[in-house]
Amino acid sequence: MENKAITKIGVLTSGGDAPGMNAAIRAVVRAGFYYNLEMYGIYRGYEGMIQNEIKKLESKNIAHILERGGTFLKSARSAEFRTEEGRQKAYDNLKKHGIDALVVIGGDGSLTGAHLFFKEFGIPAIGIPGTIDNDLAGTDHTIGFDTACNTAIEAIDKIRDTATSHDRLFFVEVMGRDAGFIAINAGIGSAAAATLIPEKKMPIERLVERLKARTKAMKTSNIVIVAEGGKSGGAAEIAEKIKKQLPYYDIKVTILGHLQRGGAPSSYDRVLASKLGVSAVEGLLHGKHDVMAGIINNKIVFTPISKAILGDKEVDEDDFRIAKILST
Ligand code: F6P
Repeated sequence: MENKAITKIGVLTSGGDAPGMNAAIRAVVRAGFYYNLEMYGIYRGYEGMIQNEIKKLESKNIAHILERGGTFLKSARSAEFRTEEGRQKAYDNLKKHGIDALVVIGGDGSLTGAHLFFKEFGIPAIGIPGTIDNDLAGTDHTIGFDTACNTAIEAIDKIRDTATSHDRLFFVEVMGRDAGFIAINAGIGSAAAATLIPEKKMPIERLVERLKARTKAMKTSNIVIVAEGGKSGGAAEIAEKIKKQLPYYDIKVTILGHLQRGGAPSSYDRVLASKLGVSAVEGLLHGKHDVMAGIINNKIVFTPISKAILGDKEVDEDDFRIAKILST
């Protein structure tokens, strides 16, 4: 390995937690030990960096965490880290511990923090995409996305049972912030009558037509998936509008919410997190910085953080078309 200068790496999780974050921390720390580095856990993300909640990690700290949801390092969204003073405090604390590189596990906000920090203080940092939203470019999937989709689909299967028993129309809202990745997967995987995502406009009239056609086709249950973050509103607002046009429907709304963030990571997320954790440490040792480790077509790829956070990753047109074909 090159770049012998790195001897102490700090690892943190930040932003919304995601299943598989623990598996990623474990992989980062184990890889660090493998390469004879000292590894430090920074608790509560950037907030903990500012408050000096930094501890040297030992093997026992990461035992039996691979299979656990959440993040044992805890997470936070730090307002203070957005200020120069906050970042200076954070940098001073890293220096106190002699930490010379960082691995940041999180979504776009967390990686933006790592990018800024590198620009201001020159601390080499590698990001690992950890968010259920799957909204980062430079990786086919983010850690936690697969588990969140599984959780959403399992919940919708249960809703389907009661929807069918009562001939009801359900509007189910899923997470994803401004992105429709969870929604489109949940829609395909649960035979939804329609899937509404922020990236594509679906006029209410079209949804009404689709539901009318399904009534004609004697469908006994209808589940419409609504991604949060859409311009026409969430599941409750859409349900209100539909109620006015289709008063004969018995309509219910379920917001899946934070249950999509919890639970043991799926095998896919465990493996993804493990591969990215090791790759991030090896990337740092090879002199990489200000990049995010991701997997594209089953190969590890490092993408500049500035590109990964652009917010231009799009729901695949094929996925959208397939969801539409299967719901008519
Ligand atoms: O980014 C992950 C996510 O769960 C989004 O899907 C959601 O919009 C947001 O975080 C919720 O954030 P919080 O837990 O802070 O309410």
